[in-house]
Parts: sequence; C-alpha cells; structure tokens
Amino acid sequence: MTIRRIFGRRAAGLAAVLSAGALALSACAGGGAGSTTDAAASGAAGSAEGIKVGIAMPTQTSERWIADGNAVKEGLEKAGYLVDLQYANDDIPTQTQQIDQMITNGAKILVIASIDGTALSSQLDAAGAANIPVVSYDRLIRDNENVDFYVSFDNYKVGVAQAKALLFGLGLTDKDGNKAADAPKGPLNIELFAGSPDDNNAGFFFNGAMDTLKPFIEDGTLVVKSGQTAFDQAATLRWSQEAAQKRMEDILTSTYGGGSEPLAGVLSPFDGISRGIITALQGAGYGPTIADGLPVVTGQDAEIASIKLINDGVQQSTIFKDTRLLAEQAVKTVKAIGSGSEPEANDTETYDNGMKVVPAFLLEVQTILKDNIESDIIGSGYYTADEVAAGVSK
Ligand code: BGC
Repeated sequence: MTIRRIFGRRAAGLAAVLSAGALALSACAGGGAGSTTDAAASGAAGSAEGIKVGIAMPTQTSERWIADGNAVKEGLEKAGYLVDLQYANDDIPTQTQQIDQMITNGAKILVIASIDGTALSSQLDAAGAANIPVVSYDRLIRDNENVDFYVSFDNYKVGVAQAKALLFGLGLTDKDGNKAADAPKGPLNIELFAGSPDDNNAGFFFNGAMDTLKPFIEDGTLVVKSGQTAFDQAATLRWSQEAAQKRMEDILTSTYGGGSEPLAGVLSPFDGISRGIITALQGAGYGPTIADGLPVVTGQDAEIASIKLINDGVQQSTIFKDTRLLAEQAVKTVKAIGSGSEPEANDTETYDNGMKVVPAFLLEVQTILKDNIESDIIGSGYYTADEVAAGVSK
C-alpha cells in the first residue's frame, strides 16, 4: 500500500469524524436562526469551527519552541480551530501524559514536536486507533506508522550550512564554499559537538556537517585533536548548554593544556550549546572575542542571545530557521488534513521513520553572520535592532 493510500484512508476517517461533529453541532444549534445557518454552513466535511487540535511542544527553555507554539496556535485559532498547546519541560513522561490527555479531551488532530522521537508509541497507537492524524513538527517521530506528515527544515542542509560557516570562519573557503586563495595550510585544530541522540534531527545535522568537513579532515587541513569524531562521542543529551560547557571544559583540560594550546574552531549544532562552549573557552582564557583569538563557534536557531554574540564578534554564526514559516506550513497542513485533502509535500523519500517513509514539507535555511544580521534578521522583522543590541526579545 502506498503512503498516499494510507494517508488517504486516515484523512477520510478524519473527514468523517469532522463531518459527524459538524452535524452534531448543527443538531444542537436548534432554534436561533443565525446559529442554525452557521452550523448548517459548517456542516461540510472539514470545517474547522470548534475542532480541537492538540499541539505538543518539547520545552520553553529554548525560545524557538515558544515562538513555534505561539505561531501555530495563533494560525489555527484564526482558522477557527480550538487549540490545546502544551510544553513538556524536556521531560518525556510529561509529554506522553500531555498527549494522552489531548486524546482523552477530544483532539481531532495532533501536532507534535517530540522530545524523544521513539518514546511516543503508545500515544501514536491510540491516535491511530481513534483516526486522529498526527503531524510531526520539526522533529520526526520514529518507529510508528501513525505519523501522517512531517513539516520541518531541510535538516541535512542545516548541517552542511554549519560546516560551511565553520570553513569560512577558519579562512579555508569563501562564503560560497570555494577554496579561499589565501587559505591557511593548517593543520588547524577543531572540535565537534552534536545534538541530542534521541532527536532524529541531530543525526541529519551531524551527517551534513561531517560530509562537508570530511575532505578537510582527510587531507589533514583540519584535525579533531581530541579524536572524538563519532556522533555518540560528540552528542549532547537534550541539547543541554550545561552538558556542552562541561564537555568543552573536559576537552580543553585533556587535550589543549587547559587552554594554552591552539584551537581554531568548534562545530556546534545549536545556539544554547554554542553559548556553553563559548563560556568554557572564555573561562580557559581564549578570546573574549574572535578578533582576540576566540575559536570560531557555529550555531543554530538565531536565538536572540546568540544574535547579540554574533553582532558583538563573539559567536561566529548561526543557522536561521524562520519559525514563522514553519508554523505557517504546519497550519496549512492541518487545514488540508481537516478538509480531508492531502497536504502538499516536497519530499517523499528522505524521512523514513523506521516504519514508513513519511511525506514531508521541508523549508530552506539561511546562514547568519555578523554582516547579514541587519538585512536578514532585523530586515525580515524577526527581531528589532533594539532587541539585537540588548540580546533579549520582547
Ligand atoms: C531543532 C533545532 C533545535 C534543537 C534544540 C532540533 O530538533 O531542529 O532547531 O536547535 O532541536 O532545541
């Protein structure tokens, strides 16, 4: 059976549920002329009015998820859906309970950004049994067939962009990735950090980065002096800033004479991790800015605290994933599902969750360096100039 047919069957199930809901509404509306007409008008399968959507987000400790949650909620409410938005404090049992509760409370569609992509099986089984379509948001939910759609960014390209920023920051390439005319011969020491091993995205980021860095490591231009080049060695459970700081401190102690030996750059997959790394580096005497010898540190998410650090010449780069666009895509997806049609996918090959290939819509990402904060971050209205200067968003 093709993915399309599986999706079609589940969407048809949902359309039937929505249609029955609308009929029930219409029956309840009874006397009031206006309300009867409204209810009758909403009797078409797929009307959003009053339909519950559960949105499960991982944590509020990273600002991107707060922006994601609010934007999806706002978009769905505008379209007439009732929204139950929950954050789980990066705690797996909290997230599973929240999703159980959403199902019990009558959610008809679920949008989930998982903490651990493999920990939601019983919730997804329950959703499947109740014909509740599930949209995997940003992070792919694994090992269950009841994942209907995936909205995300091109996660492999995020890793490629991080590595390209690092190579550029080290003077090895120009911004487009071509070998720089005056490139240093090396060897240049670098260290590698990866994201949380239970997040499906982390492997894509790391693979994209490593495929890009590989030729430079193989020809000896770059040396990972700690020898920690495997994903498992570089991984950072729950994307923890503290864990990253500790690992960087340990590497500086074991491999860089506590900070007295040259370290040119650090690949970091997320701004929170980048800030932990930078704290460790500065604590060991590097920097305080890149101009003073702080190693080049990459990032992801364009978090306001990191945008300020980039503006101040401390963090070298971040990858901007415009959560406004992702939220918009999630809302479009829910609307399509709600009306019984198939959401628009632009990738039906890459995201195998272990049970099936999940159709996906992937958005493009953008590298942010000091010189394009003005045009791409402030210019797009993501943050104001005041927020960038203060390092705090309102
Ligand atoms: C997201 C990243 C984010 C990371 C930590 C990943 O799943 O794709 O944007 O930096 O989680 O929250």
